Amino acid sequence: FISDCYFHCISLLTLAPVYYVNSNSVAQKIYVEVNNTVPCVRLLNATHQIGCQSSISGDTGVIHVLESEADLEWPLTKGPNPPYMILLESHLFTRSIMMKIKKESSRIAGVTVVVPNTSPSEFSPHTTCPNENTGVYSDTYGPHLAHCNTTVWNPLGNGLSYEEFDFPVFSLKEDKQAEAIKQCYYDHNRVVNGSAPQYPLCAMQLFSHMFAVTDTATCMRRNDVINFSINPEMVCDPLGDFNVWGSIRPYNRSQLGHRDNESVVMAAARLDSRAFFWDVSTGAEGSISGFVTLLAAAHALRDVTQVAPPTHNILFAFFQGEAFDYIGSSRMVYDMQNGKFVIDLDNVHSLLEIGQVGLRNGSDLFLHSDPVSRMNDTVNDQVREHERYRCSLIHRHHSSATGANFSLVEPGVSQPLPPSSLQRFLRAQNIPGIVLADHRAAFNNKYYESYYDNADNLNLRYPPNMTAEEQLEFLTDTAMALTEVATVVARALYKQAGGDGTQVDNIKADSKTVTQMLFGFLVQANNSWFQALIPPELKDMLSLLLLIPPDFYVGVASSSPAKAKPLTRLVQFLLANLTGTATNLTQDQCQKPDDLPDESVQMYSYLWVQGTVPHNGTEKGPFCVRASVRLSQALSPAFDLGEYASRNYSTWTESRWKFIKARIFLVASRDLEMLTLGVGVAVLFSSLLVTYFISTKADVLFSSAREPASAAY
Ligand SMILES: *[C@@H]1O[C@H](CO)[C@@H](O)[C@H](O)[C@H]1NC(C)=O
Ligand SMILES: *[C@@H]1O[C@H](CO)[C@@H](O)[C@H](O)[C@H]1NC(C)=O
Ligand SMILES: *[C@@H]1O[C@H](CO)[C@@H](O)[C@H](O)[C@H]1NC(C)=O
Ligand SMILES: *[C@@H]1O[C@H](CO)[C@@H](O)[C@H](O)[C@H]1NC(C)=O
Ligand SMILES: *[C@@H]1O[C@H](CO)[C@@H](O)[C@H](O)[C@H]1NC(C)=O
Ligand SMILES: *[C@@H]1O[C@H](CO)[C@@H](O)[C@H](O)[C@H]1NC(C)=O
Ligand SMILES: *[C@@H]1O[C@H](CO)[C@@H](O)[C@H](O)[C@H]1NC(C)=O
Ligand SMILES: *[C@@H]1O[C@H](CO)[C@@H](O)[C@H](O)[C@H]1NC(C)=O
Ligand SMILES: *[C@@H]1O[C@H](CO)[C@@H](O)[C@H](O)[C@H]1NC(C)=O
Ligand SMILES: *[C@@H]1O[C@H](CO)[C@@H](O)[C@H](O)[C@H]1NC(C)=O
Ligand SMILES: *[C@@H]1O[C@H](CO)[C@@H](O)[C@H](O)[C@H]1NC(C)=O
Ligand SMILES: *[C@@H]1O[C@H](CO)[C@@H](O)[C@H](O)[C@H]1NC(C)=O
Repeated sequence: FISDCYFHCISLLTLAPVYYVNSNSVAQKIYVEVNNTVPCVRLLNATHQIGCQSSISGDTGVIHVLESEADLEWPLTKGPNPPYMILLESHLFTRSIMMKIKKESSRIAGVTVVVPNTSPSEFSPHTTCPNENTGVYSDTYGPHLAHCNTTVWNPLGNGLSYEEFDFPVFSLKEDKQAEAIKQCYYDHNRVVNGSAPQYPLCAMQLFSHMFAVTDTATCMRRNDVINFSINPEMVCDPLGDFNVWGSIRPYNRSQLGHRDNESVVMAAARLDSRAFFWDVSTGAEGSISGFVTLLAAAHALRDVTQVAPPTHNILFAFFQGEAFDYIGSSRMVYDMQNGKFVIDLDNVHSLLEIGQVGLRNGSDLFLHSDPVSRMNDTVNDQVREHERYRCSLIHRHHSSATGANFSLVEPGVSQPLPPSSLQRFLRAQNIPGIVLADHRAAFNNKYYESYYDNADNLNLRYPPNMTAEEQLEFLTDTAMALTEVATVVARALYKQAGGDGTQVDNIKADSKTVTQMLFGFLVQANNSWFQALIPPELKDMLSLLLLIPPDFYVGVASSSPAKAKPLTRLVQFLLANLTGTATNLTQDQCQKPDDLPDESVQMYSYLWVQGTVPHNGTEKGPFCVRASVRLSQALSPAFDLGEYASRNYSTWTESRWKFIKARIFLVASRDLEMLTLGVGVAVLFSSLLVTYFISTKADVLFSSAREPASAAY
């Protein structure tokens, strides 16, 4: 009987808190995982940390749905249940509101932004003067032009992407789930007539704890220390990836540095873009309009440069990481200066960069050039070269009746270059250069470096009820417009490279290719055309690249080209398809072409691609493409040099984190929780006491029931 009691009493005591809890709302404390959230993460440079983070165990707050700016008063001062988790519609995601929240961050657990499917009228979380500290203009070079003194390029920029928040900020798609969260707020947390809502309240918890703090030098030092510890775990990684480049005449990749008698016309565009939230940047106008135009121009030059090769080589360069202080272009310039690239800066004849060209306002395209290098010294040869270059571009455009319905215009002598890779070349050497763009001064792009710089921003529209394959082939107006630009670019490059004047009119960009590229990069990457261009082992890559929304953020650097970002690989294979030749090599030969007499991996890349998926016989399957397309590292030289506090080179790193997640649940009041805890603790102590008492008196209590020690079982 006593031993029965022993167990019974213990179990009664230990179960007591459960019974107690069951009888009230704490039992409803069931977590619901919130899906499809995107966090803002921490990035670091030489001097600052930017972005967001939660505490190590996540930040929890009572949800408050913000309906207007005035509504902030409740969570920031009046509300009795801090901290609050603010849920706001994207039109309230403004600098003024975020700064007010940042100032009162002790009462704020975090912010969740509901992103709608339609764009606001304008929004740019970037700065007004992108990459202002790492371009060419400085106190020593065109000081009156530095820091956007004469032209503010991105006047709509509110700078939120460069602020530091010591609370988590997540984004959430406008869908059923967001509705459910708002409903939870309306059911439980609604402030009625200024009186506090009753418990239980609807709460949200965000986890986005970041390992790195302070700045890049600090986190790289910690990386080094951690390398020697038993359990290595890095705290941050440099941003970076790979540049893609190709040329119409191949270069022997084993011969680096200066080449005698070589003068190369370069054509460049940037690949990446960024946004406030981590991996949702789209860059339709910001980068895609430019690099798609350049790819189409490269394509347009393939045939003519085989029939009538120009005197100069033409090199196409696609730079990664430009959003973060020109990572890609500064690396290529550094490699050229240090004999680590197939040409050096003296071999660069001139550079034509394609900037944002998708939003032509009326009929003009603008040729931006650098007033300082043009004005430097009027008797200088280089200046004459500059003048020749600009005049020739304009003149050529007018002289060759392109049929294009736009004209090339100069924005005016006093204006500096817009943010562009060309600035990094000018920093190193006075190279004649032009940046082609659709804006005279400030950007036409109202969504620069934001999530809304998407297909809609480029007016990419398809008739309703089209299948994906029909859309892929459908010729949009945007594609027609960019094709015209590509034709002009291709002709300008050909003449600039000393091509045969009689051939110029045969150069025409292909509108079908342009429309397919726009569809692939902005609507659906996983389409039959892109699939045909990539190797079989990468076929799953496309579904990773363009989920909607797509991800053109540069991300952290990887050491091997095989691990380059999907965007980089895709542009590599596109450039190979558009400028290379299809061969009849077998798969084995494609992997080891050096065994064949006329092939050389030093001159060409050999890429085994899927080809069109055969629907029975007629179409060809996989084949080997030979192209002079290469990847080159786009990691800031600051990391090779160990100059983590560099002012010349990008020092951006991304913090690591353990996990990122968001969940909602109902919380009971603090008093109730304390009571629960108190009762729990009391029960614990009394059961300990009872246990102690019983075990010390066990001899007495259980003596009759005890078996002899020698009993056999
Ligand atoms: C998130 O997804 C999980 C599993 O798919 C589901 O159980 C959960 O209810 C979803 N969360 C919300 C808030 O819809
Ligand atoms: C901008 O340039 C003008 C003259 O070009 C100069 O007077 C002014 O001080 C400059 N402003 C800044 C902020 O540098
Ligand atoms: C680092 O980033 C911050 C925030 O954008 C900026 O103010 C600062 O100038 C940057 N530091 C360097 C060395 O570029
Ligand atoms: C709010 O206050 C107004 C006026 O004081 C009153 O008419 C209304 O019934 C109140 N609403 C609720 C839900 O208590
Ligand atoms: C840490 O060690 C790895 C190899 O163990 C090495 O590749 C890496 O460069 C080291 N990192 C630093 C910052 O020294
Ligand atoms: C490329 O250059 C290397 C080193 O100069 C040389 O050995 C090789 O023969 C060259 N390859 C070709 C195909 O010219
Ligand atoms: C470069 O050109 C000059 C004059 O055209 C010629 O004499 C010289 O041999 C060339 N050098 C090379 C390496 O081709
Ligand atoms: C002007 O040109 C000369 C010679 O090319 C060069 O040494 C000087 O640095 C240039 N000045 C500027 C401001 O670029
Ligand atoms: C598109 O398809 C839907 C249903 O499949 C149909 O109701 C609608 O009329 C179609 N619209 C057009 C323009 O064909
Ligand atoms: C490029 O792709 C198209 C379509 O898949 C294919 O027909 C063509 O042969 C390819 N060209 C090269 C050079 O790979
Ligand atoms: C590939 O084509 C070339 C001629 O274009 C021919 O000489 C060669 O034998 C072919 N190779 C194969 C493997 O069919
Ligand atoms: C395609 O070929 C397969 C076998 O090679 C055959 O079973 C199938 O019926 C064919 N389909 C068509 C549409 O011809």
